[in-house]
Amino acid sequence: MKRTHYCGELSEANVGERVVLEGWVNRRRDLGGLIFLDLRDREGLVQAAVDPASPAFAEAERVRGEYVVRVEGTVRPRPEDQKNPRLKTGGVEVAVESLEILSEAKTPPFAVDAGWRGEADPEVNEELRLKYRYLDLRRRTMMERLRLRHKVEKAIWDFLDREGFYYVETPELTKSTPEGARDFLVPSRLEPGKFFALPQSPQLFKQMLMVAGVDRYFQLAKCFRDEDLRKDRQPEFTQLDMEMSFVEPEDIYALNERLLAHVFRETLGIEIQTPFPRLPYREAMERYGSDKPEVRFGLELKPAEALFEESAFRAFRSVLEAGGVVRALVAPAVLSRKQIEALEEEAKRYGAKGLAWARVEKGGLTGGIAKFLPEDAAEKLGAKPGETLLFVADRWQTALEALGAVRLKLAELLEIPREGWAFLWVVDFPLLEWDDEAEGWTYMHHPFTMPNPEDLPYLETDPGRVRALAYDLVLNGVEIGGGSIRIHRMDLQKRMFEVLGIGEEEAEAKFGFFLEALTYGAPPHGGIAWGLDRLLALMTDSPSIREVIPFPKNKAGRDPLTGAPSPVSEAQLAELGLKVVV
Ligand code: AMO
Ligand code: AMP
Repeated sequence: MKRTHYCGELSEANVGERVVLEGWVNRRRDLGGLIFLDLRDREGLVQAAVDPASPAFAEAERVRGEYVVRVEGTVRPRPEDQKNPRLKTGGVEVAVESLEILSEAKTPPFAVDAGWRGEADPEVNEELRLKYRYLDLRRRTMMERLRLRHKVEKAIWDFLDREGFYYVETPELTKSTPEGARDFLVPSRLEPGKFFALPQSPQLFKQMLMVAGVDRYFQLAKCFRDEDLRKDRQPEFTQLDMEMSFVEPEDIYALNERLLAHVFRETLGIEIQTPFPRLPYREAMERYGSDKPEVRFGLELKPAEALFEESAFRAFRSVLEAGGVVRALVAPAVLSRKQIEALEEEAKRYGAKGLAWARVEKGGLTGGIAKFLPEDAAEKLGAKPGETLLFVADRWQTALEALGAVRLKLAELLEIPREGWAFLWVVDFPLLEWDDEAEGWTYMHHPFTMPNPEDLPYLETDPGRVRALAYDLVLNGVEIGGGSIRIHRMDLQKRMFEVLGIGEEEAEAKFGFFLEALTYGAPPHGGIAWGLDRLLALMTDSPSIREVIPFPKNKAGRDPLTGAPSPVSEAQLAELGLKVVV
């Protein structure tokens, strides 16, 4: 007896057919004489009916939820009043003639059946879900996420294959790549005291593939970064990594837009608007206080220095005197004390010293710093009675980032609706940023990013004003990708290292192998990597990327299922020449 159908695919078209089904018992209902079994597999659920005259009846009485069974029977229509419009198979049932229990099951620690019946799954503690991930994945929403992940990867493969890309696998036991996080290290047994690093990205390998002449490369690449975890960060995650030769940013934008349109059409049946808007980094910061702006609602930030030039408010005057800025946000509501406190806390989390405020009323400004503001302040900021003015004064970056965070928090508090798919490119990133601690210039993306040729004359004299040929891909306020055109000539690469204060010896030790590759005829090239997990989390409206990663780590970076990371034996350590000192 071989399976003839998936449970979830039966419909009125199969009425009269003899079928063999294999799957799990979603639920057993005993109606006195008659037993109903809801049979389930990854494609869905179908009702099976066992009547007392059936030779399968005795076995059916033994069956419990989550038992694995094989059933043979005939598909028949359900009586009109018993049809279930919520299920694809709701018009039919299988009249069972034989039933075999293939596997018994303990009662699962949480119910997995509700979603398959078209009901909401109960809330389950995430730690428990991760410990029993194989049961968690048995739930309908999780199975659908696995399927979507597969479909998205398939759509990517199909599209890029047609476009002439080669899929190339790059090593996971390798040397440190400079993406800015901490490395995961793997000790070498054959050379005690030496270590491999797990790749933070395939960056240098994909560039060397361009030197080799591969021309167009892609990979669904596992990347490893030992950094603090967040809802959109895992120590181990997947990138769609791409690199192309003889291209300019425009070629990369166009290809990625077509690829995303293909993926959304094939997997969600959604047409997305292309080309995507482009926002220079400075404009994104000035208007939204973010380099990954959520543009599905307004509430843009406004300059407000002019309101404080004559003001007696010392805190703001001193920021201005030190060369800082003042930015304002108009909240379209009368905010309560509690709401203002929550917003102030958010501003402080982003480094602001506080959040100054005033209410706009018919008679004028009240509360907060009202008495320090000129009479026409509301008018100048375009605010109406019933609204609240919010201000931050600080260094440019801090003021904007803090108020940008306040803007997002405010949208959450006021439940401002956000709909649709807002893709955009953030372009013209600065090449370098000043590092207060190191007292020097450091790279914003990585040290192989091409400066904008227009700004090359300032590379040594005014490094802060040099723009990079680098871009980020943003969807609904989330950075889902980033890339750049790369430096392909050693003379320029050497200039970059000098500006970064990376000496010849250091460069040689860290990536000498790669610099040498650049001396053997490197084509102009560039690329991008998507955070595939982040894209999938958005496509499935999931609160965290853990929801779309089959076996993720928890918030503390541990795996509750296997218990990793875990201690190893003394013998294993000795073999590696290691000693644990903590
Ligand atoms: P970048 O470091 O910007 O660029 O990474 C590309 C994209 O990967 C995603 N991402 C993450 N997703 C989940 N968990 C993490 N810890 C994590 N870190 C990053 C983000 C990000 O936009 N080699 C370059 C790409 C290039 O220049 O071509 C790189 O890795 O969505
Ligand atoms: P103070 O005069 O320091 O008590 O501050 C009065 C109000 O201004 C408080 O609500 C502070 O949160 C706020 N405030 C002080 N400094 C700043 C700043 N640099 N940016 C924004 N708000 C500030």
